Parts: sequence; C-alpha cells; structure tokens
Amino acid sequence: MNYSVLIQNRKSVRAFTDKKVPTVALEDLKAYYQTAVKRLLPELQTELLNFGLEAREALEGAAGYHQFLVGAPQYLVLLSEVHPLAHINAGYIMEDLILKLTDMDIASCWLTFTRSQDVKKALGIDSHLEVVALAAFGFERKSAKRLKLNFNSMSQVDISAKHRYMEPKRSIADLAFLDTWGNCQNLQEYIGFYDDMLWESLYAASLAPSYLNRQAYGFLLRNGSISLISRPDLYNTPIDRDLSLGIVLHHFTEVAQHWAGKLCWQFGDMPLELPNGHRHIATAALGHCSQYCTTACKF
Ligand SMILES: Cc1cc2nc3c(=O)[nH]c(=O)nc-3n(C[C@H](O)[C@H](O)[C@H](O)COP(=O)(O)O)c2cc1C
Repeated sequence: MNYSVLIQNRKSVRAFTDKKVPTVALEDLKAYYQTAVKRLLPELQTELLNFGLEAREALEGAAGYHQFLVGAPQYLVLLSEVHPLAHINAGYIMEDLILKLTDMDIASCWLTFTRSQDVKKALGIDSHLEVVALAAFGFERKSAKRLKLNFNSMSQVDISAKHRYMEPKRSIADLAFLDTWGNCQNLQEYIGFYDDMLWESLYAASLAPSYLNRQAYGFLLRNGSISLISRPDLYNTPIDRDLSLGIVLHHFTEVAQHWAGKLCWQFGDMPLELPNGHRHIATAALGHCSQYCTTACKF
C-alpha cells in the first residue's frame, strides 16, 4: 500500500449509505489482518471481530462521543491481551486496517469507548481478551456539505453541516522540534538534511486522526534520533490518548520505513528535558537499522 497517498485520502466519515459491504471485501480485510497487518508488538495476542448493523443499537451508550454514535453498516472491534502498550499497539493495528479500508474505497471512523466490559456486554463478546479499539465503516453518504463535529469538550460535541473538508491540524512546525522541546530554529534545514523522508513522514504524522482532534503529542528530533512525546491534555482519556499515540506512530513509521528501512522504537523512560506533564513515549534512530529487529525493541 502507498501509505503517503492513503494517509492523505483518509478522513473520518460519519454518514454512511445503507449499502452492505460486500462479503468479498470483508474477507479481504480479514485475510489482510491475519497475514499482513502492521503491528508494533507482534508478540501481543490480538483478535479482530466484525459486527454488522445490529451493533449500532447495541453500542449506544457504550461507545462514541457524548450522545453521538456514528451509525454505520459495519463495526470493527479489536481485542488484545492486557499489556502496558496494548492501546498504543491497538492504535497502530486499527489505523493500518482503516488505511486498508481507504485503499478499498471504504470509509471509516474511529470510535471512542470508556470501558472494555461495557462494549463486551453490549456486543455479547465472551473472551479473555479486552476490547482495545473500535471503528465504524461502510460506504460514505456523499453530500456537498460534510458532517463536521465541533469539539468544545467531550460533553459538548456539536454536529453541524459544514463545507470544510478536513479538520484543521497542527502544522509540522507545531508538531516537531529540534534539540529542545519548543525549538523550531533550524528545523527546516534539519528536515531538509534527511531529504524527503523526514518531511513526508512528519507530514503523514500531522494528518493522523486523533481523539477530539486534540493531537496531544509531538516529536523531538535530536542527535540523529526522533522521540514521540505525549503532551498533557485535559480532554484525553488514557485509552484515547494511547490509541492516538499508536496512530501517529503508525503514520510516521510506515511512511519513514518506505525511505529509511525498518525503524526500531524503544519504549520506556528517557532523560529528556521536557515541560511539565510531557512524557517520553518512544525513540527511534533515524536512518537504517543495523540489524533486523521487531519494531518495538524494548519496554
Ligand atoms: C481514539 C479515537 C477516538 C475517536 N472517537 C470518535 C467518536 O467516537 N466519534 C467520532 O465521530 N469521531 C471519533 N474520532 C475521530 C476524530 O474526531 C477525528 O479523527 C478528528 O476529528 C480528525 O478528523 P479526521 O479523522 O477527519 O482527520 C476518534 C478518533 C480517535 C483517534
């Protein structure tokens, strides 16, 4: 898949036609998940479940922004074993599936949820694994105007028809810093040094979907490495924050790897000088990895 192109074409769709997603497309998606889906932690056990229209009513109250569940003909539910990085891994996997759907001309929208038990109960899921990610998908109901959500806060999400096409997102200059957090001086020259690779990857990261479009993260470039940093955010729940981190990591990584070979992310603490509330998530060396390794080298 050409991730750069798919990432630019993806958008959250909240109005779907009644047209059923063909069985062959559902089978393609299942086969893709089983054989080719991109994972951050391949060793973590996960399972993908697919529900039809019946899930729409069942999920009311258990998923979606305050009093607004995206009604769609199909829903994807990702289950995972419990692990400190389970939701970051889930963000990575589900975003890969969403981009696969984009490749198949099928529209989608991420869905928030608060409690795995509520979703399991609503959908009658009997599994030792926990619900870690949800998405709605189907065929977009085309309209001259697009349903847009205005995010004031989680409890104040207004739905209105707007002519705007994409949610406004952070620019690269507001997403990536050089040497110290907040420093943009010489950033353009540094990015230029890595030629198209760094610019394209950061651009892809800037287009990542995130909970309430908060984009509560950023990148720090220093000493030939890149670190993903979580920014403090009042509105993010821990689950949505981690899913959004997994998604942005996916966008950056899958585009960068096209140019630079395998990126090896190292998770855990790192002594960086960051403002209050900011947290180091993972660091990877830029350029070719000296050896093949699983993407997440260590926790
Ligand atoms: C973890 C997560 C949960 C989300 N939950 C919902 C949701 O419940 N309902 C909804 O309409 N959009 C939801 N979204 C979609 C975001 O609102 C959307 O990604 C953001 O507004 C940016 O718009 P875009 O995806 O079109 O670029 C969610 C996104 C993420 C990453």
